[in-house]
Amino acid sequence: MLQTFRSALRFRRFRFGRTTRQLERAANIADLRVMAKRRLPGGVFDYIDGAAEDERTLARNAAAYADYEFVPRVMRDVSSIDARTTLFGREIAFPFVFAPTGFSRIADSQGELAVARAAQRAGLPYTLSTMGTRSIEEVAEVNTASKWFQVYVWKDRGLVAEMIDRAAAAGFETLCITVDLAVFGRRERDVRRGFTLPPTIGLDTIIDAVRRPSWTFDFVRGGPIRFASMATRDADGELRDPAEAVTLADFTNAQLDATLSWSDLEQFRDQWDGPIVIKGIQCVEDAAIAADLGVDGLALSNHGGRQLEGSPAPVALLPHVAEVVGDRVELICDGGIRRGSDIVKAVALGATAAMGGRAYLYGLGAAGERGVDTAIGFLRAEYERCLALNGITATADIHPGMVTPA
Ligand code: GLV
Repeated sequence: MLQTFRSALRFRRFRFGRTTRQLERAANIADLRVMAKRRLPGGVFDYIDGAAEDERTLARNAAAYADYEFVPRVMRDVSSIDARTTLFGREIAFPFVFAPTGFSRIADSQGELAVARAAQRAGLPYTLSTMGTRSIEEVAEVNTASKWFQVYVWKDRGLVAEMIDRAAAAGFETLCITVDLAVFGRRERDVRRGFTLPPTIGLDTIIDAVRRPSWTFDFVRGGPIRFASMATRDADGELRDPAEAVTLADFTNAQLDATLSWSDLEQFRDQWDGPIVIKGIQCVEDAAIAADLGVDGLALSNHGGRQLEGSPAPVALLPHVAEVVGDRVELICDGGIRRGSDIVKAVALGATAAMGGRAYLYGLGAAGERGVDTAIGFLRAEYERCLALNGITATADIHPGMVTPA
């Protein structure tokens, strides 16, 4: 009997470690999101997952990829796929850039270091945020490959200039200037939770922390969270981290320079020798202005739906921008990427690459650095499978005719 049973069934090898078992069972980025939701305290998960007001823009960013479908070709020998592409003269493993995301250490104590290491392993550019919780220099130590530095333009332009100089000295090669945050978007999940940085402890936080021991242990062991590259200048002129826990809205509204305008670009051009990407372009007219001013790349982005509710989905805007400036600047489609096939569609519609934040943050929140590897592994495998099923063998062969409005 036992013999018959054995011959009919094969037992799966038991894996020690709940996270390892869950990671092995995860099939896609959405599964990592579910894992992250279970592992992270509610306020932390909502900060990452949430967006402005009714979150319609957030939903539309991802849903807009379904407005296009493929025109698959068959019988084309797709036994080998070359996913590589070139972005600003540099070869990358497939057309994806790690978007800048602030405060990664709230998801995992290694924070930006974990993500930067995973990006290097994947052969993809990593963008460090001004609001990173690991410094420019710390990140440069663990990632000796392609790195971009993202700036918000603070009122204290001296501070911005200092950070840019540090990034250049540390080997960051592309400057990414985020321009869609003139004032802070209203993220209502954060408002309801009273979310601050560093997180403040209330009864609800304590209950949440007790229910999530693996996050709590990691967070406490990681030491205090700080804005690692950025400090602010006090009235006495001293540079310091903000002493008090702040809501992000209060902090950014106090520090950000709402006077930022196109004429300011020149100052960045004078200071930065490498490529400059403007992130946060949301209409064709602004794309044309930026291209006329000689920027190297445009990230079509509505900040993951976290800023202006009602801003167009980047992938919907992309073909219109590509038609006007696609031959002059590199276009990057940022927002809503959850599948490798989304990246294929973005490239077919005129982008050199896609950019994503939540896609890897769900992995970071689910399982730290391993989770980021898993997330990027999903995107890459899906990307290659999508090319093969379309009868395309190389990123270089992706063309507009392979997608059509659904
Ligand atoms: C910061 O840029 C955020 O979107 O929270």
